[in-house]
Amino acid sequence: MKKLVYIHTFGCQMNVHDSEKMLGILEGKGYQETDQPSKADLIIFNTCSIRQKAEQKFYSELGRIKSYKKRHKNLKIIVAGCIAQQEGKNIFKKAPHVDFIIGPQNIHNLEKIQDEKQVLIEENADIAINDLPVKRNNNVSAWVTIMYGCNNYCSYCVVPYTRGRERSRPSENIYKEITELAAKGYKEITLLGQNVNSYYSDINFTQLLRKINKIEGIVRIRFVTSHPKDLSEDLIYAIQELDKVCEHIHLPLQSGSDEILVRMNRRYSLKDYMKRVNMLRKKIPDISITSDIIAGFPGENESDHRATLKALKEIEFDGIFAFKFSPRPGTKAEKMDNQIDENIKSERLSEILSLQDKITEKKNKSLEGTIQEILIEGYDELNVNRLSGRTRTNKIVTIDAYNFKQGDIINVFISKGRKHSLEGNPLI
Ligand code: SAH
Ligand code: SF4
Ligand code: F3S
Repeated sequence: MKKLVYIHTFGCQMNVHDSEKMLGILEGKGYQETDQPSKADLIIFNTCSIRQKAEQKFYSELGRIKSYKKRHKNLKIIVAGCIAQQEGKNIFKKAPHVDFIIGPQNIHNLEKIQDEKQVLIEENADIAINDLPVKRNNNVSAWVTIMYGCNNYCSYCVVPYTRGRERSRPSENIYKEITELAAKGYKEITLLGQNVNSYYSDINFTQLLRKINKIEGIVRIRFVTSHPKDLSEDLIYAIQELDKVCEHIHLPLQSGSDEILVRMNRRYSLKDYMKRVNMLRKKIPDISITSDIIAGFPGENESDHRATLKALKEIEFDGIFAFKFSPRPGTKAEKMDNQIDENIKSERLSEILSLQDKITEKKNKSLEGTIQEILIEGYDELNVNRLSGRTRTNKIVTIDAYNFKQGDIINVFISKGRKHSLEGNPLI
């Protein structure tokens, strides 16, 4: 009988994709995925340490499964991901029931796990050249890692410590992986990296886009995340020109105050950022732009916060993710003076979110009466009689189910724009 593995993934798309790689490796070792941890022979937590909340959630889950070991003598527990990298063997002290600790640069070592406890967190530059098997659950849309790590050291962020230095995959390996995905019927690919636009191996990022744009069968190309300081004119032209590259960019602003941006070590000013937004909109008029915002960074005063609100009003993003600043161990911002009171952070966050909600709704309403191409992803989570798809600009559209199926690309008439999604009628 096959051995069963249960995997719980926290954090970003990079982590979700790492879980797909771990499942790919384990499938080769005779494991099958289960959604029931109590039945599993192997439990993996693929962890995230970006904010304290994510870390707390993991530790409480880890505590909860402790008793499983009493019932299942041979159960092994692995802690992978960013907390594994940061905490290393300290995790054994907090949770002696853990068997293996494997950082994101060592997932290939899943091959080697044995009976005794092990910690595998050393830097591994080869991660970019060793291609791992991947077990994808979705068969229309696929993530493809193009680069690992981050060199930016934004003062609040753990990623450069957990994911190590930037390393790009050779373009040939990426090309081969996507060609194989196309042959299997995948239509959409999302290129992944903490800073995709600083991709550099034998070619640069825009050259990579040009190369991938030629792969037959792939209809949509997306990429996340772009850093504003590395957004070149060349990339804007590539989005404009290349038919498969979707009209959407996630371009985290973080704050609308120049003083805060300096202390965040973001290396652009609001003016630099606006210049890029203006050029994007001039060259690609229907582009959607989304962003990340941090509320209550150390030293953020009322006028810095107002500057963020003003920037949100001026730019009018299609959507944002906003978070309260969370002090993270080992980062510069953790030790900065003038940490902001939690209540003030919460107030600022809710002001940011309610302003953006109105902007998003207005933007969605402005699409009423237009025709949009959508790629159908599956059934609507809230209503099984409806299907859900995405526009090229990454907006969710729901339609009556009719005879369409996952993977179909159809044109729809947008009948309603709501806060979080659009409603459409297929044009047949
Ligand atoms: N590499 C990407 C995303 C990194 S993490 C980028 O540079 O944009 C995703 C988002 O989490 C960040 O954009 C930031 O807004 C948020 N984030 C990171 N560290 C944080 C912290 N310590 N507290 C609150 N939010 C944080
Ligand atoms: Fe973190 Fe900044 Fe790197 Fe993004 S660019 S991963 S926010 S250090
Ligand atoms: Fe991703 Fe969280 Fe690590 S956001 S890179 S899993 S800290």
